Amino acid sequence: MLKRNWRVILVVCGLILALTPNLYGADKVLFPYQDPQLPIEERVEDLLSRMTLAEKVGQMTQIEVARLMGRDQWDRGPLNNTWLRNILRDNVVGSVFSGGGSAPVPNTPRDWAEMTNAIQAYALEHSRLRIPIIYGVDAVHGHNTVLGATIYPHNIGLAATWNPELVRKVAEAAANDVAATGVHWNFAPVGDLGLDMRWGRFYETFGEDPYLAGEMAAASVAGFQSEPRVAATAKHFVGYSEPEQGQDRANAELSLRSLREVHFPPFEKMIEAGVATFMPNSGTVNGVPVHASHYLLTEVLRNQMGFDGVVVSDWEDIVKLYSTYRITDNYRDAIRLSVNAGVDMSMVPHDAKGFTSNLISLVEDGLVSEERIDEAVRRILTLKFKLGLFENPFVDPEQADKVILNANRDLAKRAALESMTLLKNKNNILPLAKTTGSILLVGSNAHSITSQMGGWTIGWQGADNPWELPPAVTVRDGLLAALPKADIHFTADLNRALQLADEAEVVIVVAGEGAYAEMHGDNLEPSLNQADKDLIKALSAEGKRIVLVLIGGRPLLITDIVDQVDAILMAFYPGTEGGSAVADVLLGSYNPSGKLPFSWPRSTAQLPQRYNHWITSSYDPLYPFGWGLSYTSFSYSNLKVSNRVKLGETVEVSVRVENRGKMVGEEVVQLYLSPSHGPTLPRQRSLVGFAKIQLEPGERKTVTFQLGFQELASIHGDILGDGEKAVAPGEYTVSVGGLQNKFKITP
Ligand code: GLC
Repeated sequence: MLKRNWRVILVVCGLILALTPNLYGADKVLFPYQDPQLPIEERVEDLLSRMTLAEKVGQMTQIEVARLMGRDQWDRGPLNNTWLRNILRDNVVGSVFSGGGSAPVPNTPRDWAEMTNAIQAYALEHSRLRIPIIYGVDAVHGHNTVLGATIYPHNIGLAATWNPELVRKVAEAAANDVAATGVHWNFAPVGDLGLDMRWGRFYETFGEDPYLAGEMAAASVAGFQSEPRVAATAKHFVGYSEPEQGQDRANAELSLRSLREVHFPPFEKMIEAGVATFMPNSGTVNGVPVHASHYLLTEVLRNQMGFDGVVVSDWEDIVKLYSTYRITDNYRDAIRLSVNAGVDMSMVPHDAKGFTSNLISLVEDGLVSEERIDEAVRRILTLKFKLGLFENPFVDPEQADKVILNANRDLAKRAALESMTLLKNKNNILPLAKTTGSILLVGSNAHSITSQMGGWTIGWQGADNPWELPPAVTVRDGLLAALPKADIHFTADLNRALQLADEAEVVIVVAGEGAYAEMHGDNLEPSLNQADKDLIKALSAEGKRIVLVLIGGRPLLITDIVDQVDAILMAFYPGTEGGSAVADVLLGSYNPSGKLPFSWPRSTAQLPQRYNHWITSSYDPLYPFGWGLSYTSFSYSNLKVSNRVKLGETVEVSVRVENRGKMVGEEVVQLYLSPSHGPTLPRQRSLVGFAKIQLEPGERKTVTFQLGFQELASIHGDILGDGEKAVAPGEYTVSVGGLQNKFKITP
């Protein structure tokens, strides 16, 4: 039924396209904007000059695809001609996106390509100037809404790899899949930080540190945009990740110093990486909704940071200015506030007419200037020209399945392997011998594809439809494949587990969290479920050797069970190949190299618990930032630093690292800086460099770092935090691998 619909639409649109004067093709260029030989700036100005106000406002409107489908705006189903006409003809909407889990039915790569082609064909056919739409999606860990696409670890796990090149490759692979389905815009990566374990979006971040998160986010942007047909999005600008009580979209009280030192850097790194678009923080900072903050969206983002791309709102966040944040009492004024603050496109996401009619009337009443409209539309058209949408608006559905299905499973495995972080390994119980003959496998995440993927997978809240579970190797699958001759008893029943425990050489408990997204993941006490805790307690009382594997998106409260287990492996949300990666680590086929990209609190009473804390506050986590064990041992020596440099000069630091064990291993060399004094209260230490190296047994390498302005500067000035960013003369300590050395910066 559905396929026939799309095919009918395609055939009809194809016929219309064939019959109307073909405005495309170099030999039939009618207007300058259609000439691909001309500079994009010229094409934009020519097209802009031909557009009506209604057409311009239509370009600033983004509608969720479910509005074009099925029976209502939440339904998935065949494209609905009435709504295609309403959205793409009557309101000449310029952008469509798939939120959360909006996908065609059936949900295959080919059906995605046919859906986006059909929408594009209808849009072109009903656009007087034949302006193509731009289609957006949240491909935050692979093309995760498409059934059959390879799913990678979520960002928090990718951050634990401390391998930006790997992160870039993962993003590149995801972008290729996105492009293959006729999607052009990826609402990723995040620049938010993992600062509060109670926040439901912790796992979407690259961890707590601005430097590490910035490097990873920039690598992600480079990967996504290495596919010339895909634009990335720096989100959610800014200060989103410190909501009160860790409650998603609660207000965040942040000093300007904190914004500048902690929250801005990852976004600045993404701008340096050439990110094409931005999405504002959905919440409020210091009582101001960011979607209405001219200071953040224009003064900081445009005038200070120099970003000149498109700013698209987050979901319904202009509406929320009056409905939730109550900074005005009506929608029309909310649109005025947001567009004048700097939002170029509204992710409405359903009521096109409500947005377009109000914005048109605001312009007619002089409350939003035509210049501001032109500025926004100029950015949007520039994006569409840069993506080649005017010349290549369609994708080949015949290629989609071939490109996407089962693609890059080896890359997914590599990413999962390098994300695995060994937190505890008492008496070196790990790696298990490959001759292990009997294992008891228990725990709610031992054989759960849904948990293994986490949120933003097929559905917004995760793959929760049994009929739409993505292909994956669970931990149970991985162990069975790795130990075909072993007795691997798998049970969810506590009594059965106790019976089986006697003959098991080792117990593996796979626990942690299920799948969730956004506010649905907010949790004041994130921990394991009680059944898993009871299993651990009972099996520990039996004196069994227990390996705990955690699948989840954040540091969990495990202080009460950490002494009941012999080893703990944090697997994060490892994706499609998660189970085979866990098996390889447990059996020593891969030597774990992951390092925590966040601090692991003992309790939420400790929050905030950050390694780069002020020198006046304490730091006593269960596991510190940068923590992770290996099956081999690395020694550090020869820490050298240029001991006196003048202001403005670069400081060179080098250290020698040796693999003193019997297994090849990868080590993350982490360089920290501690000022002895500063223009303001110093932080205990800050990460200013890292390098991941692989060393064979007995091999040693010297790693060298260069510290420049970006690494050495701090914010000067008084309490407002608006002072200059500068390098302060004085004494500094560098620390790496347990070694320390000092240097002086002289005026
Ligand atoms: C959500 C998220 C944002 C996402 C958008 C579209 O509410 O905040 O990260 O890109 O909606 O799905």
